[in-house]
Amino acid sequence: MVVAPSRAGNLPAELTSFVGRRREVAEVRRLLSMSRLVTLTGVGGVGKTRLALRAASEFRRAFEAIWLVDLAGLTDPSLVAQTVAATVGLRDRSARAPLSVLSDFLAPQRVLLVLDNCEHLLDACAVLADALLRQHRSCESWRPAGSRCASTVSSPWRSRYAATQQDYPIG
Ligand SMILES: Nc1ncnc2c1ncn2[C@@H]1O[C@H](COP(=O)(O)OP(=O)(O)OP(=O)(O)O)[C@@H](O)[C@H]1O
Ligand SMILES: [Mg+2]
Repeated sequence: MVVAPSRAGNLPAELTSFVGRRREVAEVRRLLSMSRLVTLTGVGGVGKTRLALRAASEFRRAFEAIWLVDLAGLTDPSLVAQTVAATVGLRDRSARAPLSVLSDFLAPQRVLLVLDNCEHLLDACAVLADALLRQHRSCESWRPAGSRCASTVSSPWRSRYAATQQDYPIG
């Protein structure tokens, strides 16, 4: 059985004031408007997560839900889909593959997934993004914005099906 949550996401409130980065926020917004997968790249501590969350927060009205999935503490790539599913509040007790359940669940929705700290799980994140974005493509005729992913990582990665994938290096 699948139990669907009704929350509009889990975007955290900013605990400290956000300084500068107006041009970068505008650019991430622009890229997310054009592309279904946007990856913020840059060295540790440069501000990828803060920027991603700030840009995502400005999209609140454009999506039914915005979900931040922090993958920093996850070491097992086979658990990426379960981690995303748990974040969005999905509980599945069937024998189906978690990614398949997640894809079906998110397909009719228009969500923004922020995958934070992907560097050690690149292949698994690519598989996840491919599955979700490919599935959601069919929604685009009636939901023009579709679902999207923003990710933060130290260096670019590739999703095969995200034809308009954009990388944005943060300096
Ligand atoms: N524009 C900003 N205004 C205020 N504080 C910021 C800003 N950008 C980053 N910071 C702060 O700097 C620190 C590092 O930022 P952040 O965690 O976003 O970096 P990161 O690139 O995601 O790092 P990591 O690669 O380790 O995940 C955090 O304490 C964050 O709150
Ligand atoms: Mg970060």
